Amino acid sequence: MNEPKGASVLLVEDDSSLRTVLTLELKRLGLVVSAVQGGREALEAITKNAFDLVITDLKMPHVDGFQVLEESRKRLPEAQVLVVTGHGTVDSAVRAMKSGAFDYLQKPVDPEALGLIVNKALERQRLLREVEHLRAQVRGRFDPGNIVLVSGAMRRILELVQKVAATDAAVLIQGESGTGKELVARAIHAASARRNHPFVAVNCGALPEGLLESELFGHARGSFTGAHANKRGLFEESRDGTLFLDEIGEMTPALQVKLLRALQSGEIRRVGENRSVKINARIVAATNRDLKKGMADGSFRDDLYYRLNVFPITIPPLRERPEDILPLAERFLKVGREKHGGSALKFTPDAGLALKGYAWPGNVRELEHAVERAVILAPGNVVRDEDLPPEVRPKDKADQPRSLGELEREHILRTLDACGGNQQEAAKRLGIARNTLWRKLKEYGITAKK
Ligand SMILES: Nc1ncnc2c1ncn2[C@@H]1O[C@H](COP(=O)(O)OP(=O)(O)OP(=O)(O)O)[C@@H](O)[C@H]1O
Ligand SMILES: [Mg+2]
Repeated sequence: MNEPKGASVLLVEDDSSLRTVLTLELKRLGLVVSAVQGGREALEAITKNAFDLVITDLKMPHVDGFQVLEESRKRLPEAQVLVVTGHGTVDSAVRAMKSGAFDYLQKPVDPEALGLIVNKALERQRLLREVEHLRAQVRGRFDPGNIVLVSGAMRRILELVQKVAATDAAVLIQGESGTGKELVARAIHAASARRNHPFVAVNCGALPEGLLESELFGHARGSFTGAHANKRGLFEESRDGTLFLDEIGEMTPALQVKLLRALQSGEIRRVGENRSVKINARIVAATNRDLKKGMADGSFRDDLYYRLNVFPITIPPLRERPEDILPLAERFLKVGREKHGGSALKFTPDAGLALKGYAWPGNVRELEHAVERAVILAPGNVVRDEDLPPEVRPKDKADQPRSLGELEREHILRTLDACGGNQQEAAKRLGIARNTLWRKLKEYGITAKK
């Protein structure tokens, strides 16, 4: 148990001899004690100082213990409040507990009971702080504000995320590998009323069928070799939260049946148990496989598909939303600099062109890794194209025969970039009409900034 040493306590007691006894006892426990003789002084102390613990007599003239309790709850939400009640006044103790007191002590106060309760109160406070700290950490790791959304496609996806977050509907996220499916799943959870409950992710492609089943549903002790103890499954772990079924397309047909049954009945049964447990998790599934194809060739059940696909979200590959490339790269540059302590602040124009010109088959994840690597390699305060992985760099023109179209596209991109995206200016430099430039931009799938 937590040592109370150094914790600060406000003691409110109008009986001076009891105040002295309690002060000594609390000091003996290692607490830093501020003792006051009445409610008014207590309220003043609460506005001026923070306490870990407030111990207050209930019956006092002028301002009583209930007011001290109420004010402590308001001004010191982290502090635990213990009330001291006279003999035979359990009613008021109950009332105090209902108003948020942690526990009560009866007069005459037994020093041993005092020690135990104080320890318990401080332990509880420590746990609450720890939970808050962990929550903040999780939120920090997943900050929806860090999602880069520049393209219209991604902004529409954010709108969908916000709409679906307000419901409990099942969501199916589809998209190529590395497009941000898990990120979107977490964003849905973070925007939903479930945000303070667990987000539990399971990769359905990473475990053999039997293990995945017991991971999801849990098992009773002895239900199979190696099941040494009762174990809760992830459905139970994600109670009131979100269960993210990643790579759902990899799930075997037998397990698909079991999953479907669970979703239909809203209940699961641990492997080897008869008792059923209610499910209360929002289901978000994701896949980079084409489930329609899976249904056509019989590897994915239609009924499960329709159950999961209440609300579909499809994330387009990065090459179809090139406006996101540079903003993403800049975000990863910043993150990489913080992580690896590099000095690069931006990309040279050539590096920018290389990033924009590459097709990114591994999508955002590939871009993230490429930039992270470049941050480490870049010697100065800019990332040059030679700091990027070779496949990203434009092929050397001399040994790489290229089509006229490719060269034209690249030349247009460079010119546009040199003109800061100003099409009128670019058209002038290229010696073509603005309409012609516009047509070519469309033809080459270049999305203009202005
Ligand atoms: N729009 C975005 N803004 C910022 N970071 C992003 C964005 N999209 C993806 N990322 C980052 O790219 C990486 C890959 O994203 P994520 O893991 O969500 O993709 P995925 O689709 O689940 O990939 P896989 O299919 O490989 O599991 C993560 O580090 C994620 O934070
Ligand atoms: Mg993923």
